[in-house]
Amino acid sequence: MGGSSWPSEEELDGLRKMVAKMSGRAAEEVRVVVSPYRICPLGAHIDHQGGIVSAMTINKGILLGFVPCSDSQVLLRSGQFKGEVRFRVDEIQVPRQAVKSNDKIQANDSSQLQEECKWGSYAKGGLYALQSRGNHLTRGITGIICGSEGLDSSGLSSSAAVGVAYLLALESANKLTVSPSENIEYDRLIENEYLGLKNGILDQSAILLSSYGCLTFMNCKTKEYKLIHPPELQKNRETETKNAYKILLGFSGLKQALTTNPGYNHRVAECKEAARVLLHASGTEGLEPLLSNVGPEVYEAYKCILEPNLAKRAEHFFSENTRVIKGLEAWASGKLEDFGKLISASGLSSIQNYECGCEPLIQLYEILLKAPGVYGARFSGAGFRGCCLAFVDADHAEEAASFVKNEYQKLQPKLASQMNQEKAVLICEASDCARLI
Ligand code: GLA
Repeated sequence: MGGSSWPSEEELDGLRKMVAKMSGRAAEEVRVVVSPYRICPLGAHIDHQGGIVSAMTINKGILLGFVPCSDSQVLLRSGQFKGEVRFRVDEIQVPRQAVKSNDKIQANDSSQLQEECKWGSYAKGGLYALQSRGNHLTRGITGIICGSEGLDSSGLSSSAAVGVAYLLALESANKLTVSPSENIEYDRLIENEYLGLKNGILDQSAILLSSYGCLTFMNCKTKEYKLIHPPELQKNRETETKNAYKILLGFSGLKQALTTNPGYNHRVAECKEAARVLLHASGTEGLEPLLSNVGPEVYEAYKCILEPNLAKRAEHFFSENTRVIKGLEAWASGKLEDFGKLISASGLSSIQNYECGCEPLIQLYEILLKAPGVYGARFSGAGFRGCCLAFVDADHAEEAASFVKNEYQKLQPKLASQMNQEKAVLICEASDCARLI
């Protein structure tokens, strides 16, 4: 581990002092969970179907400073949002009932008040996940949670970073030893069961399994994963990584999902329906309707019977799986140009086959493709709002960032004017997994 430029000692000290003041304890007693945001260069929208994904964390994310309490009380404040969250770890948590089908998108885009509920929900969701798998918690925490300053985290999976942060803090306070794969499952319980969202395990797997400088490849059906360094990075990881590439994030300024947007869960349902039709046609309807349960040869033989929308979703799944496998080879042999081309092709498939995104995000994607030194680009995350990511030659990162900022401002002056121009395009680096320090 090591090598990541985030968080700085200054950030950590500042947070420790705030938590010490809030809890009346010494700053030395404060523990901090570092839970980074993630990007997914290849393998978009296929985790919920058991596909293969690639991921990496970046040097921005969530910090949760806390002290364990002597009793069961949880008391939380947020660096971004008003109010306090209080509950007890010996209260039994039940899944929230009133979650709408596209709640994930709305939850990320809602008003400050709803956001406040959201960060409280993830803490209670963490408790729910631990309780529902038989863990008995007796000690609460007093803590402050903060996201990277001034950064709109839509598309970078702040929800999973928050969920993982609460899990690690509650486990530490209660001296529970939990493996990363168990925490992947616990975070899945927060999202799928407690909040009723239908997402896959990409986000928390990236956050919990990543290692500095590596790309994580994960089969979301078997849960097997590999961490891969490009060969030249093995010689001198830090220097070479700094010289080879940077991660560029271009923000759209779009936080509100368009009302006409069908939403995340709708796409998941379409993928399942495509799987159901294909499994039925091949006489294997006993299998769970997931596209990963449909063999590529079955898809080729029966894709003609899918109605057009379902055919496009299935085409995204099968072509994206192939891109991830090719991407694994390109990354492992250090071919960043080839890797980048696959990312851009993945972005195009998200637009044409998965049909997510919206005009500002598509424009950003197209601008990024024209920017100097960019190897490849695509939407980040669910693709309905937030940001686009690009891999860029490190020597051209600054030039590319100002190109993207200027060009986007021309096309979307209103959205651009609503953003802090200092944070409209960010140059990031790879980071480590979530951890307690
Ligand atoms: C969101 C979901 C993930 C994944 C991505 C798209 O981040 O939470 O499970 O589906 O979108 O790849």
